[in-house]
Amino acid sequence: MSTLRSQAWLAGDDEVAVLHRVALASAGVPVVPGRPVIGIANSASELNPCNLPLRDLVGPVRDGIEAAGGTGVEFPVISLGEDLMKPSAMLYRNLLAIEIEEMVRANPLDGLVILANCDKSVPGALMGAISANIPTVLVTGGARSVVSFRGAKIGTGTALWRLWDERRAGRLDDAGWRELEQCLSCGRGACNTMGTASTMAVLSEVLGLMVPGSSSVPAGDPRSAAGARQAGELIVGVVTGTGRRPQDILTQGAFANAVVALHAIGGSTNAVIHLAALAGRAGVPFPLDDIARLGTSVPVLADVEPSGSQLMPDFDAGGGVPSLLREIAGLLDQEAMTIAGRSIGEIAAGARPASGAIRPAGRPLREGGAFGVVRGTLAPDGAVIKTSAASQDLMRHRGRAVVFRGYDDMLARIDDPALPVTPDSVLVLAGCGPVGVPGMPEWGMIPIPARLVRAGVTDMVRVTDARMSGTSFGTVLLHAAPEAAVGGPLGLVRDGDLISVDVQAGTLDLEVGDAELATRRAALTPPRRRHLRGWPALYAQHVMQAPDGCDLDFLRAPTAAHLTFIEPVVGRS
Ligand code: FES
Repeated sequence: MSTLRSQAWLAGDDEVAVLHRVALASAGVPVVPGRPVIGIANSASELNPCNLPLRDLVGPVRDGIEAAGGTGVEFPVISLGEDLMKPSAMLYRNLLAIEIEEMVRANPLDGLVILANCDKSVPGALMGAISANIPTVLVTGGARSVVSFRGAKIGTGTALWRLWDERRAGRLDDAGWRELEQCLSCGRGACNTMGTASTMAVLSEVLGLMVPGSSSVPAGDPRSAAGARQAGELIVGVVTGTGRRPQDILTQGAFANAVVALHAIGGSTNAVIHLAALAGRAGVPFPLDDIARLGTSVPVLADVEPSGSQLMPDFDAGGGVPSLLREIAGLLDQEAMTIAGRSIGEIAAGARPASGAIRPAGRPLREGGAFGVVRGTLAPDGAVIKTSAASQDLMRHRGRAVVFRGYDDMLARIDDPALPVTPDSVLVLAGCGPVGVPGMPEWGMIPIPARLVRAGVTDMVRVTDARMSGTSFGTVLLHAAPEAAVGGPLGLVRDGDLISVDVQAGTLDLEVGDAELATRRAALTPPRRRHLRGWPALYAQHVMQAPDGCDLDFLRAPTAAHLTFIEPVVGRS
């Protein structure tokens, strides 16, 4: 074992070392010379029910750390709750990353256990951990229990979006709407569909940053506490043993494995952005086109909403990530190493065959992956579509644009009976990208106009620079880059313009001549900035576009200097 980082604070007999030991002892944390100090970053909060199960896991993590000969120190970090934070928890993902990195930098920590669950909590915390680059294990809190509405099981998010359309079409009355609210207020834990939280938990396990088999355990399941204890034991073993760090684990092969798994689970489109951000922190190239390229031979195996019909507890019962890896083993870099000291190939080989909600490779939900990437005159730097949750008959489409400039505009006019929209129209929502709002909210699943819903229309082609919830569905071309707010062509589209998309061919074009576009561009007025101070102002000034993961330009790792973690000078504060 190399010298523990914490010794720079805690060893010695001078007044500074005494002060440091007194600070920990006063907090009830015993300082034992030579014992590794493990930070437990806890993002539980009553403002975020998805993360509340994490409260119950602090004790088991600490028990595991102590049983393995370490000392656990809990500290709070910002809790990114998807439902309450406005304009979007995504605005604060990078703030969590900074918080984790700086808490590690500033404190006597030798290893880190991250407790995170809701959508942005996991990628944000991992981004910080990659930059801090001390041994790290992630523990998630699991999905909330499944409830029924009028006799049918309903999944978080997905069911609400469907039933909201029913309500708008006048097919769900006031009593039903209130009953649904009661049903959905069903307790703690992440969305139980394959939303962003479940997707990022699964991918974190595939990346090798979790205890194998732990990412899909439902909230409250006794295996949750056992897994948390195991994580505590594991991190002490890594700190005193191999010393393996996130940047050792997150190789190009590890990211390729994550992309393959993302297709196989029909996961959230948000994961495309988060993986790019994680890869950026690790200094691993992650071109957007790899999302499509690596997916062409991947079978979609997870029969979980919104791509499938079941829910996350069913995915867990079907064998979870180890069984999924077993089914797609031939498509993986099996040498990729995990924090647990076993390779991905070894984990796959030791897993039981998939069952239930995880289909065997020979009987997939669909072939050819779950995502498409398109680019063209409407999105020169690319846009993403979740083909597994879209209408196959709309994968090739040409229609006239109906344009909304911002969310308020869309809300004000989408159900206007006079809106000149037909089922063949292409709905465009511009001005909702990372700089535009800022924070790139999940506004991309533009509702189908109520008049068309009543007529039986269930899907239309939509194009936007926003994101959409991982629990959403439909033929939506998301993350169009560059976004309208930085001059992207989405901001030049006008009502009636022809837009053509061909997902198979990878194209998305605005059929307007260059001269006309130049005229329109010259007439553009700069977008109004909503935030002029504080974190949102800093964010809007430095955030990169979706293909670069929406990280801040000064935190990414384009150079060796960005990959180097600078230790503080330890002396009097
Ligand atoms: Fe938190 Fe879905 S809203 S996990």
